[in-house]
Formats: sequence, structure tokens, C-alpha cells
Amino acid sequence: MNTPSTTTREDALKLLRQHVKSEPMIRHCLASEAVLRALARRLGEDEEKWALAGLLHDVDVELTNADPAVHGAKAGELLRPSGVPEDVIEAIRMHNERSAGAKRSDRFHKALAAGETITGLVMATTLVYPDKKLASVKPSSVVKRMKEKLFAAKVDRDVIRECEAIGIPLADFAQLAVDAMRPIAAELGL
Ligand SMILES: [Fe+2]
Repeated sequence: MNTPSTTTREDALKLLRQHVKSEPMIRHCLASEAVLRALARRLGEDEEKWALAGLLHDVDVELTNADPAVHGAKAGELLRPSGVPEDVIEAIRMHNERSAGAKRSDRFHKALAAGETITGLVMATTLVYPDKKLASVKPSSVVKRMKEKLFAAKVDRDVIRECEAIGIPLADFAQLAVDAMRPIAAELGL
């Protein structure tokens, strides 16, 4: 199920680059886009819409100085004038429950939060492999790192586990994320 978005991918990337100057952050957004597209495919949801949410979910990160009290809530101001659909803006707002002041219940919202979060664990896991290449990473290594609280400590394991609430076991989720990120490994510097 795919509906053409009013925002093209090219426009969305331009918009993201306009507001996000950090290259590592851009790479995180590209990884999130790939994972969200794969999640939509697996769940029979709108691939273009979910990918767009993944790509743009951190658009206000520099505007808000990544302040968890407001990050996500400001995205609408940046995205609405470009015609980004309201349900995408809402998913982006809800990817940070703290600023939203509400708990996620929607499948799209949980997918965005879990999907963008696991990219951090996949990247961190890749960087401790001897060759630092995503091609070498076993999804089981990503799962193993879930239990090591001090490893990539900022990556919120509880948010990653929201995959289970949308019907995807953790092992499958790790496999899906690694598989989704591999084709763009060069762009991700991995
Ligand atoms: Fe993010």
C-alpha cells in the first residue's frame, strides 16, 4: 500500500539538509529512512510515508539543541510549509514521548521510535567489529548488545523493544534493521 506523498524524497532531503548540518546526524536520518521503509514493507503499511517520517524525524534536532523537553515538537513548524502530511508530523512529534507529553499507542508511532532507535545500536555494534563494516555485522550481535547497559548507553533499549508491541520479535527486528541499512552502508560510512 503506497500513496504518493506530496513531498518528494528529493525535497525532503533538501529540507533536512537545510535544518541539519551535522553529517553524523544526516547519516542517522538516512539509516532511519531505510529501516522505516523496511518496517512498512513488512507490516503492509505505506512505505513512502513511513520512509519520509524516518528521514525527517530529527529535522528539529539542531533548532532545539536536542533538548528532550522540546525535540520533536518543533518539527511541524519546519515541515508543514513544505506540505509534509500531518500524520507524518504527528509520528515525528510522538517519537519523543517526553516532549509530546503522551505515550505512544499508534503502530506508526511505535515503529518510528523503535526503528530510529535501533539504528544507533546497529551503528555502535558495527564500530566495535574489527573491520567496522556493516557487512560483517551479525544481527545476533545487535541483540546481544541490548543487554549490555553500558554499551551505547544513550540508546534506549525500552524504545527498541517497542518492536514487539507491533508484532516484530527482537531478533527479527535486528535482522530487518541490519538488512535495511546494508544497501546504504557506504553512505552511512559503515
Ligand atoms: Fe533520531
